[in-house]
Amino acid sequence: MSVSWNRQDNIALIWIDNPPVNATSHAVREGLVTALAQANADAAIEAIIIACKGKTFVAGADVKEFGKPPRPPFLNDLVQLIEDSAKPLVAAIHGTALGGGLEIALAAHGRIASLDAQLGLPEVKLGIIPGAGGTQRLPRLIGMSEAIDMVASGKRISAQKALDLGLVDRISENDLITDALTFAKVLAQTEPRRTGHVPVRDFDKAAVEAQIVAIERKARGQISPGEAARAVYNAGNLPIVEGLKFEREKFLELVSSEQALALRHVFAAERLAAKLPDLDGVTPRHVQNVGIAGAGLMGAGIAVAFADAGYAIVIVERDKQSMDLGAKRIEAIYDRLVKSGRINEAAKEERLSRIGFHFDRSAFAQCDLVLEAVFDDLDVKQELFASLSSIVRPDTILATNTSYLNPDSIASVIPDPGRFIGLHFFSPANIMRLVEVVRTKNIAPDVLAAGLAVTKRLGKLGIVSGVCEGFIGNRLFTAYRQQCDFMLEDGALPHEIDAAVEAYGFPMGPYAVTDLAGLDISWARRKRDAGKRDPALRYVAIADRLCEAGRFGQKTGKGYYAYDGGKRSIDPAVTTLIEAVSQEKNIARRSFEQGEIMAKIIDTLVAEGDRIIAEGIALRASDIDLVLINGYGYPAWRGGPMFQSGRS
Ligand code: 3HC
Repeated sequence: MSVSWNRQDNIALIWIDNPPVNATSHAVREGLVTALAQANADAAIEAIIIACKGKTFVAGADVKEFGKPPRPPFLNDLVQLIEDSAKPLVAAIHGTALGGGLEIALAAHGRIASLDAQLGLPEVKLGIIPGAGGTQRLPRLIGMSEAIDMVASGKRISAQKALDLGLVDRISENDLITDALTFAKVLAQTEPRRTGHVPVRDFDKAAVEAQIVAIERKARGQISPGEAARAVYNAGNLPIVEGLKFEREKFLELVSSEQALALRHVFAAERLAAKLPDLDGVTPRHVQNVGIAGAGLMGAGIAVAFADAGYAIVIVERDKQSMDLGAKRIEAIYDRLVKSGRINEAAKEERLSRIGFHFDRSAFAQCDLVLEAVFDDLDVKQELFASLSSIVRPDTILATNTSYLNPDSIASVIPDPGRFIGLHFFSPANIMRLVEVVRTKNIAPDVLAAGLAVTKRLGKLGIVSGVCEGFIGNRLFTAYRQQCDFMLEDGALPHEIDAAVEAYGFPMGPYAVTDLAGLDISWARRKRDAGKRDPALRYVAIADRLCEAGRFGQKTGKGYYAYDGGKRSIDPAVTTLIEAVSQEKNIARRSFEQGEIMAKIIDTLVAEGDRIIAEGIALRASDIDLVLINGYGYPAWRGGPMFQSGRS
């Protein structure tokens, strides 16, 4: 039974039990309606508590029911029943109260949350807006601007923040149900406080309108954040009945939109990515103590990611000076996080206290996992791993963060390559969500499972990749960049391609990205690999010419663009250079429409994606979409190229 109730003292305890996340599936809605009616009809009952079994409070409406004909009782009607309950009603929240789950809690007359609970309205991430009163009740509890921020971003907040904002009334640090009973007995003495009747606090209209415009701009084509913000704004301008009506209509309109369909694909794809048929029933090798070799830009970001997730970390640099530099780099990352308000000083100190700095590899002796982030050179990495074999335990997992080297070649120097894995982070590693979990040739199943478990604990998305040059991501990116270069040579200009890509929803076009990253490193690689290049393949020399002219990107004030005073502008010298390259090959330049530019890019990504799957490098088409979305800025609301081409 997904809903049941029992009495304790004179309180009705309504239990939702619908694993895995207590979503408000049809049976839950029906069960709640019945239980509420029974508890309200029972003269001995003085107050009601809604609580959940299992690991979480209600994590939302049942996503699997979206797209199917809705079946009554509807969630919005149920939520209204909760608010209208004659007897005071408390929501007892543990785990996550998300979407429809938070909407149930918002309609309750009091909310108590356990200390580690998290609350949010993540609907925008599914391309929709809250559909059961969230946009109207949340601003009544926490104020207009905070509510717009929460609903439009979809981000979760902690129980403590929820208490500070007035979203919950109490925090339970002990037994949630015991504390909820105490709270319910207090509420039983008073008239229920119905959230829908609470007036919205005064707010600065001009500031909120500016906030909404900024949200729409940041959404880069995704509809739901702006719509969600506008629905919340209604709460300040319309009677609640009208605000709720608007919200419901917008929810129903968006739930069947193309964007919602694409984002539901992304949701399902993310859950699928962690499921590997051959890992069924495999327990991941245990990881708590983590060693990181190298505290350069990448190593420092990785260390912060691990520290943020509660791991104990040992960093080893090659000498004292590099070690001190690494420590400063990590502290600087935390200083920026404190400055931006993302963490406080105490959290910074606590995380730093879990990072040890050394310049002797023997410090790795007790590590469960040692990950290298040293210079991307085969000899350097092989020397490191060869020496580690005699330092660490035989079951310690050894991992490389290489971008381009072959992990199997690196592993060839260790006696037991079954413990060797690739964990390819993207920069900045503490921010970027994607990690390619590289399945090396001889990898042990529990090591691969550990790679996925670790990335999940880091709050990142692990995508399994086989071994090939560039793995999944850089291989797709190389194909994409090459297609863009072909179009440059055929007649397009960098700003035209960038404009097309940005209009499509990417945060930045390829040439703006290259200018930011710098042109010199890939130039060095091209020069090194020049002898290996197949002369029969089309080669575009524009990037080489720019480098020969000293145009290494933003850091030199010029690249594909000019950066006078730091401001990006089209540079006629680049146009001339590109035209000259086309002329040398007798290419008659022609113009490209934005639609054609994007069609060529998507066709290229799909073709490369097909090859990657055919070679067994990626497991499935949806993994290709996830890599592009989480590592390269492909707009999630478009679902990815494989989704658009009907492959996933
Ligand atoms: N509906 C149906 N199934 C859901 C679900 C939901 N809302 N949320 C999660 N699940 C399922 C997953 O598909 C997965 O199933 P599987 O094991 O068969 O693959 C299982 O629950 C576990 O999910 P995770 O692997 O994501 O488990 P985690 O422990 O890592 O995370 C979570 C738990 C934080 C609850 C996470 O699942 C999550 O964020 N879920 C989405 C929550 C959400 O978006 N809620 C809003 C829904 S829309 C809504 O409520 C509309 C309303 O306003 C009308």
